[in-house]
Amino acid sequence: MIIDIGYLATCAEGGLQSDIHPIRDAAVAFEDGRIVWVGAMDALPDRYRVLRQTSAHGKTLIPGLVDCHTHLAFGGWRADEFGMRIEGKGYLDIAAAGGGIRKTMRQTREADSEALLSHCQTYLKKYLALGVTAVECKTGYGLSKEAELKILRVYQKLRLEGPIDIVSTLLAAHIIPSDENCNRDCYIKMIVEELIPQVAKEQLAEFNDVFVEEGAYTYDEAVNILEAGLGFGLLPKLHVDQLSDGRGGELAARMGAISADHLEFTSQAGIEAMAKASVTGVCLPFASLYLNQPPMKARSFIDAGVEVAVATDFNPGSAPSQDLPLALMLACTMSRMTPAEALKGATLIAAKAIRRGAEYGSIEIGKRANFAELDAPDIDHWLYHFQPESCVRTWIDGDVVFTRP
Ligand code: NIG
Ligand code: FE
Repeated sequence: MIIDIGYLATCAEGGLQSDIHPIRDAAVAFEDGRIVWVGAMDALPDRYRVLRQTSAHGKTLIPGLVDCHTHLAFGGWRADEFGMRIEGKGYLDIAAAGGGIRKTMRQTREADSEALLSHCQTYLKKYLALGVTAVECKTGYGLSKEAELKILRVYQKLRLEGPIDIVSTLLAAHIIPSDENCNRDCYIKMIVEELIPQVAKEQLAEFNDVFVEEGAYTYDEAVNILEAGLGFGLLPKLHVDQLSDGRGGELAARMGAISADHLEFTSQAGIEAMAKASVTGVCLPFASLYLNQPPMKARSFIDAGVEVAVATDFNPGSAPSQDLPLALMLACTMSRMTPAEALKGATLIAAKAIRRGAEYGSIEIGKRANFAELDAPDIDHWLYHFQPESCVRTWIDGDVVFTRP
């Protein structure tokens, strides 16, 4: 049981995205990894007073953060492209010259499973220190049947290892690998006829993602690839409208996607289509910032009735940071979300965007006891006076998995 919580943001379902349903001077009790009681300290029933107690000393408690969009497994970084982009070279021009995603593809193919595993373990450990307790992990740098399966099997290992919950997404349709012996149509045919059935058979992923953009996949190709995934129970996700309006909102609505991510250039019609089809929008401030793109207009989405999650997009090119709290601060300043909206976007709404809304994402009876304790008096203060080491303790399934030294 955690007592003396100065400010507890339950982030419970219900109300607007800005309703994080806080409780002041609170306590939360859990048994066998599940929450059994939450409320004000002075309302704590006697029967829970026998549980082992730890004090939060008046600090803030939030649900364990959920990073619902990452490309965790990759070989090499692309720091050399940072300066090039600042000097004016375009993201797509660098890619066309052999850099960008294709460069990471080569380095990821070269990395063996052990190297990728240890790379991921390094960053998962850092996630615990940020208060992150669940991470969605995409493929997309293997771009061949073997290399994509290699990445998914690494994620499978990490999932079994714990304690962070790993949720896998197939993003074989990230770009066209342009291998000599397999052109565009041949590669898409391989995804549809071989890779998706194999991934489903081995239960290696839950979601199927496509990057729709010039230099990546077309709207129609995305429909084809996502429909193939649906046939095998893989739910659609999308990278859309990042660099141009590719009717991504409309596409996500048409496909019944669980989320559509990036959305910097989505039209009002796209936003309304997403609202009508209950597609969650995912705001990725690091990608907009690093690529010098206009940020996603999260305010317009929320005002139209779309739930907006916030994630890092952690990858070696467009978003080389895994600092989810920093991404939340940027979602406030760049995308005009309030601190409360940003928090709900990285807890309950993020959990729903990876189909885990019934398991975690809020501090409610029955949910997994995943929490982050913050050295801040409340959520407004946490994201306003931003401090990099604000998380002091992290719990997963009732166990302390990180304590700041
Ligand atoms: O989500 N948009 C496409 N894919 C990644 C970028 C990957 C990279 O630059 O390596 C993204 O931003
Ligand atoms: Fe991404």
